Amino acid sequence: MVEVSTSILLINRDNSIKTLYNLEIAKTDYFHIDVMDGEFVNNNTIEIMQEYCSQIKQISNIPLDVHLMVKDIKTFINAYIPYEPNSITFHLEACKDKNEVIECIKYITQNNIKVGIAINPNTSVKEIYNYLPYVHSILIMTVEPGYGGQKLIPETIEKIKELKNYLNKKNIDIDIEVDGGINLENIKLLKEAGANILVAGTAILEAKNYKEVINKIKDIK
Ligand code: DX5
Ligand code: ZN
Repeated sequence: MVEVSTSILLINRDNSIKTLYNLEIAKTDYFHIDVMDGEFVNNNTIEIMQEYCSQIKQISNIPLDVHLMVKDIKTFINAYIPYEPNSITFHLEACKDKNEVIECIKYITQNNIKVGIAINPNTSVKEIYNYLPYVHSILIMTVEPGYGGQKLIPETIEKIKELKNYLNKKNIDIDIEVDGGINLENIKLLKEAGANILVAGTAILEAKNYKEVINKIKDIK
């Protein structure tokens, strides 16, 4: 079963509560929270994402899928624990060594939160093989992190297939999440490659009817 995680990066701040409420009604499976620190990526969404999480918590029980695009991972894990997210995903590229990766995994799971590792388009999936038994998901970036509204990089689809084959071979059952430039045209390829959590921002927010596009994303075969 495929799930949809709506990225709220590009919603309009002035009517955010209304948009979040409409996404709740449209039954997005998750709210995808893009936390950017102005360091790991240029953009800075530290304040706004906390504001949106507080708003979501007031109007919705839909789980939060937190995507940390930050250098100082532990500080931001601590900042998001109070919102009781379903999952926190951090970037492999933000870690200085293997120990930091393991520490972050442990710290997130100790707080009863699912853990994911994200990799940039230029990072090989082989680099996360050692961590697969300890995480709940791998997020494969299908654009360079930092901005919404980009075009999906086609070469990343091969990485999804490679990871899916490896997981099958090793009998490891975790989620493959994909993020960036996802739309109704490329959904089929992403699903066939093995992705089962699809992050979409622009494709959903630009549609007139959120529910209709979320259902389409799920139903396209
Ligand atoms: C990019 C973010 C994505 C992105 C998704 O750095 O991680 O979540 O905003 O938005 P679209 O669907 O517009 O690419
Ligand atoms: Zn994201």
